[in-house]
Amino acid sequence: MSTVIKGGTIVTADLTYKSDVKIEDGKIVAIGPDLSGDETLDATGCFVMPGGIDPHVHLQMPFMGTYSSDDFASGTRAAVAGGTTMVVDFCLPDPGQSLFDAIKRWDNKSTSAACDYSFHMAITWWDKQVFDEMEAVVKEHGINTFKHFMAYKGALMVNDDEMFASFQRCAELGAMPLVHAENGDVVASMQAKLMAEGNNGPEGHAYSRPPEVEGEATNRAIMIADMAGVPLYVVHTSCEQSHEAIRRAKQKGMRVYGEPLIQHLMLDESEYFDKDWDHSARRVMSPPFRNKQHQDSLWAGLQSGTLSCVATDHCAFTTEQKRYGVNDFTKIPNGTGGLEDRLPLLWTYGVTTGRLTMNEFVAVTSTNIAKILNMYPKKGAVLVGADADLIVWDPTLEKTITADTQVSAIDYNVFEGKHVKGLPRFTLSRGKVVLEESTLKTEEGHGKYVKREPYPAVNKALSTWKDLVAPRRIERAGIPPSGV
Ligand code: URP
Ligand code: ZN
Ligand code: ZN
Ligand code: ZN
Repeated sequence: MSTVIKGGTIVTADLTYKSDVKIEDGKIVAIGPDLSGDETLDATGCFVMPGGIDPHVHLQMPFMGTYSSDDFASGTRAAVAGGTTMVVDFCLPDPGQSLFDAIKRWDNKSTSAACDYSFHMAITWWDKQVFDEMEAVVKEHGINTFKHFMAYKGALMVNDDEMFASFQRCAELGAMPLVHAENGDVVASMQAKLMAEGNNGPEGHAYSRPPEVEGEATNRAIMIADMAGVPLYVVHTSCEQSHEAIRRAKQKGMRVYGEPLIQHLMLDESEYFDKDWDHSARRVMSPPFRNKQHQDSLWAGLQSGTLSCVATDHCAFTTEQKRYGVNDFTKIPNGTGGLEDRLPLLWTYGVTTGRLTMNEFVAVTSTNIAKILNMYPKKGAVLVGADADLIVWDPTLEKTITADTQVSAIDYNVFEGKHVKGLPRFTLSRGKVVLEESTLKTEEGHGKYVKREPYPAVNKALSTWKDLVAPRRIERAGIPPSGV
């Protein structure tokens, strides 16, 4: 059974050209004019692009006394409805829990996925067992990225010594550390002060996490990564202070990647000052939304290439769950949704405004992260041999985002009322049409786990350089007599 996408314009991270695409057994088998197959998908007037990859989601995440409400079934359905064909979630070991047990838990949760997925591993505690297990996590389980929470004190947070040890272990294994960069000690003390002063509403969340908290932690993580000799990926980069630290590191020659979220590009801090408690609490996430200057900085980073990819950090809680924090903003589960809306919003507010080219759109939604996570060109490419994770993007389709019609399982949408123009006509997951003209055709369990090999290139380059410039004893012909 073969499928041909006919009459469209292929858009990749570096090329735009008219061509048909032929698919067999889930892979692209031919690209060229006048192809034929058993089934034809009409792409007239459309752009054929690699499906979106969201490198940062939390589906059914155990967090702040509850679980995020989109699981792998509803989360991946929301993803493909918006043109995203792969998600990467985070295995979170409980304190003292084996990393392998965490993988088992995430394996069990993800059997319902409708599109392909992969995992990062979080380092939530540290001792010899974790150090030892990291090797098999990389070599046997195909996880080459380790996440470190510098915030959430008393829960997921790790300290600098643990982070440095883990980063060095990543360097040895050809893996890459990720950081949630916020100074968790400062956040905890600001939260306590605000609560003591009676500032217990959701606006307190934003006040307790100013951009300096993020800038400081980003800079610290970058310096620690430099000393450990590893590349670094900074998740949910939300402000100029953090972006500035990334720019400076890049200028110094470091491989540091920054990931803005569609939420931070689109929404600002005024959301927390709304008179409606539910409105503000639904938008509580970390880092919080920032002002326009920070948003401009993030857009500029995507344009200039100092920031690498746009994610969602999809971690959806219902209004009822958000209300755990009535009278105490520190108990509002942190997280917002965005999986279904990331591509249409970035297209509408990025490409059609002229902030991004179509090729840059593909780069920041798919190709860059496929390369960074070492799964290119299996993912993130329109090339013969690549997985047929594709979108046929219709720039004339439009809709107004509303919770009433969304796929996500929660009862609101933080982008409610925003109009988008540019939506998938078809979404294909390994060649299977999973969305056709807003009708979902997903199949629970169609999604496969994607193993990711360690990074031979960047880590080898860094370790070679580190050896070259390592401290060396100077051999001297003679030394003067001791002065004492
Ligand atoms: O508020 C957020 N971002 N929730 C999800 C967990 C995390 O920090 O990424
Ligand atoms: Zn985070
Ligand atoms: Zn996250
Ligand atoms: Zn299937």
